Amino acid sequence: MSVKISGVKGMNDVLPGQVGRWQELEAVAREIFALYGYREVRTPVVEPHALFARGVGEGTDIVSKEMYVFEDKGEEKLALRPEGTAGTVRAFIEHGAFVEGPQKWFYMGPMFRRERPQKGRYRQFHQIGCEAFGVAEPAIDAEQIAMLADYLGRLGVQATLKLNSVGDAACRPAYLADLKAWLVERAGQLCADCRERTQKNPLRALDCKVPSCQPVLEQAPRLGDRLCGGCRDHFAAVKAGLDALGVAYAVEPRLVRGLDYYVRTAYEFTSDALGAQSAVAGGGRYDGLVETLGGPPTPGIGFALGEERLTLILEALQRPVPVRRPAVFLISADEAGAKEVLRVAAALRKAGVACDLDGRGGKFARQIKQAERVGARYALVLGGAEVASGQAKLKDMETRAETPVALAELAAVLSRSA
Ligand code: HAM
Repeated sequence: MSVKISGVKGMNDVLPGQVGRWQELEAVAREIFALYGYREVRTPVVEPHALFARGVGEGTDIVSKEMYVFEDKGEEKLALRPEGTAGTVRAFIEHGAFVEGPQKWFYMGPMFRRERPQKGRYRQFHQIGCEAFGVAEPAIDAEQIAMLADYLGRLGVQATLKLNSVGDAACRPAYLADLKAWLVERAGQLCADCRERTQKNPLRALDCKVPSCQPVLEQAPRLGDRLCGGCRDHFAAVKAGLDALGVAYAVEPRLVRGLDYYVRTAYEFTSDALGAQSAVAGGGRYDGLVETLGGPPTPGIGFALGEERLTLILEALQRPVPVRRPAVFLISADEAGAKEVLRVAAALRKAGVACDLDGRGGKFARQIKQAERVGARYALVLGGAEVASGQAKLKDMETRAETPVALAELAAVLSRSA
């Protein structure tokens, strides 16, 4: 008995008809990141559970509720990575990369969070992320944010940059204590989630989206008013840097991020095309993380983009999916032609000309239909007569016009018309 097995909920296939969009996003990222000196790193999708518990934070939703955790045959507690920063930092430390001075790394790949799936929110999703290590100065914050703006601009994506400073170990603890007391006093006006967060992670309460909480949270004390001198100067310099680079931003006093490692700069790019899950990218500074994970004190700043969300925006913009079409589709007219198409196809491919053929052979009508389906620019019929004369006709699939061509010249002619 046959059994149909469907894919896992919240984990998607990207079919060949759509994959051109993904390849475009990734190719543009590689191109832009290289201009800024970022180099690719590839780390495993599975890491020790402790890496995320310590790195991202035990109290975060990501670690406490959303991680896929398993025992490796009773040996070690492992997790599918919910994000890319912790693993990148682990690799940075493990390979002693800090001895080489400041480093800029990027990665792309699948991440896993067991969230409730909805538009723009999946259980397996893909991030393109950047991490810059070793520079505490605000110049790198501005440069990195400007790079991300550059990237989105290159794709024609309009997104709003929201910027905030979440303080550091010098100024945040006192603020958190005050915020907590303030939230406790107003617990009756807040939702259950806010009340839970007040106890576990009061900063996250500011991020609540429940409409009835908004008027209350609008009044909450602002970290921006309580920053220490160092954080205030840093934030001012980041803003000045962005101004100098012509990158527009909105300071969002209630912007906090869902991961514990952030200090000072925190930012997100959001798009109206996305609905509820509006963040297309998010990031910030994490100056203590390398040390927390056992490395020498090393400042860092990074971001990650959601590839699914980027594709949703491009779809909303009705941008066509880039496709690479074969230049020519080879059609066999008879037995001699069936042999010849394979030989000609091999020669064309060797010359760098994309071509295709219908491996089933058979009726002309069926082969030409397949040529249309794959979007070939030309069709070329080969049979005994063409093999004997070394001449064939190149048929333009759009205009249907036919041009005679010598088979010996075919690769050169098609390369010229590409
Ligand atoms: P994050 O804000 O959790 O940050 O995720 C970054 C981006 O990944 C989001 O803006 C969103 O586009 C995408 N994303 C997150 N969760 C999902 C999901 N369930 N489905 C689809 N897309 C999703 C981080 O992960 C940090 N590691 C970013 C960072 C790097 N900070 C410093 N360096």
